[in-house]
Amino acid sequence: MSGIVVVGAQWGDEGKGKIIDIFSSHADYVVRYQGGANAGHTLNVSGKQTILHLIPSGILHPHVQCIISSGVVLDVFSLIDEIANLKQAGYLKNKNQLLISESSAMLFDYHKQLDQAREHQAGSKKIGTTGRGIGPAYEERISRRALLFGDLFLDDEKLKEKLIKASKEVLFLLTHYYKQEAPSIDSLWEKLKKARDTLAPYRHSNTSLIIDQALKEGKKVLFEGAQGTLLDIFQGTYPYVTSSATTAGSALTGAGLGWSNIKKVLAVSKTYTTRVGHGPFPSECTPEEQLYLEEKGQERGATTNRRRRCGWLDLVALKYAIRLNGINSLALMKLDILSGLDTVKVCTAYNINGRRIHEYPVHFEQLSQCQAVYKEFPGWKQDLSRIVSFDDLPLTARQYIHFIEEELKIPIDIISVGPNREEVIERSSLF
Ligand code: GDP
Ligand code: IMO
Ligand code: MG
Repeated sequence: MSGIVVVGAQWGDEGKGKIIDIFSSHADYVVRYQGGANAGHTLNVSGKQTILHLIPSGILHPHVQCIISSGVVLDVFSLIDEIANLKQAGYLKNKNQLLISESSAMLFDYHKQLDQAREHQAGSKKIGTTGRGIGPAYEERISRRALLFGDLFLDDEKLKEKLIKASKEVLFLLTHYYKQEAPSIDSLWEKLKKARDTLAPYRHSNTSLIIDQALKEGKKVLFEGAQGTLLDIFQGTYPYVTSSATTAGSALTGAGLGWSNIKKVLAVSKTYTTRVGHGPFPSECTPEEQLYLEEKGQERGATTNRRRRCGWLDLVALKYAIRLNGINSLALMKLDILSGLDTVKVCTAYNINGRRIHEYPVHFEQLSQCQAVYKEFPGWKQDLSRIVSFDDLPLTARQYIHFIEEELKIPIDIISVGPNREEVIERSSLF
């Protein structure tokens, strides 16, 4: 039983990629189980930055077997670019390092076109999606029309037949409802035929079996979540969410394994909060505070380069994430960004219509009316990036962390103090 699920505890971009990269040095497998190329996971190693969208964040470690499992929506051409970029940078030298489930659903440009057309039409009421076609691709899967990755390797005519059937409704919507020019399915088919040779080395018919065998042999498997708890399609801030289940249970369904394989759920959270896209955000900070966090924290999306909205750490939301995911360990990221502030705030409750509440209200209308109640802490000025031991942190930073730990009732086992791989304080070993 050595499976560890790593989930985002907030609205994504918590630093999951960095955590997976660090612990990959002790891991045997890293598995992506949901989401698609809406994810942007940043790794900073030896002065070089790598941003991954579909490929698991263990890929920089040649000994790690990376798996994209069936819960993921596979943007075929974005994947090809990602593979090419990694190879050019000297990674993925051994093609066996990456396995892709033949049961993952393929995502094409027409999904992106529909995603963007909907957002455009919604105007100010849009969700603020990444435009990567995630909603339409999952809809196709759920409605049982999707082309699975394994279908790519069918004979030419069968592939075309399936492609026409799968795309029919989206093309109808694009042409007749959104009045747009529909993409040519013939040219997509031609492109897909050419993609086969590039992707064939990575196909696998039963990745769930591979993972099961690895776990039975006592191998260390990391399950890499994408997005974050509050973007979960069922438990998040609906409708301002993504189209997959992002909570820890999704690792089981997306990768295809039983719950008893999971030893630990490690959540990743920033020491403050960010959100890309629209939707309620009770602890969103004032414009001046926002400017500080956005600039110092370089809060721009790794996938879309959009500005991330910033706010203070929200313990009400984190407690909700702990309950939903069964989190038993926390990685607290970007502590260095708070250095320099006179006061650091933490949201401990919400006020709603004159009432004080401590439970996260998931309904959009209720959450939109919540106002954050803050506890304030004295800040610290020191540069933290070289600190590797908890005891060497400034006293006020330690007090702030102790308070969070006591409130959440789970250990903060990892504290990140900079974007680079080695800028981390490990208080206890993960495996
Ligand atoms: P992910 O989607 O959860 O993997 O996170 P992203 O990569 O989208 O965003 C996290 C950003 O924060 C990236 O630019 C990371 O390089 C950066 N980052 C991660 N941890 C730290 C940290 O402790 N300090 C600072 N300054 N940056 C960090
Ligand atoms: P990682 O894995 C942050 C957000 C979008 C939008 C909503 C729906 O890097 O943490 P979608 O394109 O999924 O239909 O958009 O979800 N979103 C993310 N925000 N990090 C992500 O991934 C995200 N993936 C989607 O901004 O609000
Ligand atoms: Mg990201």
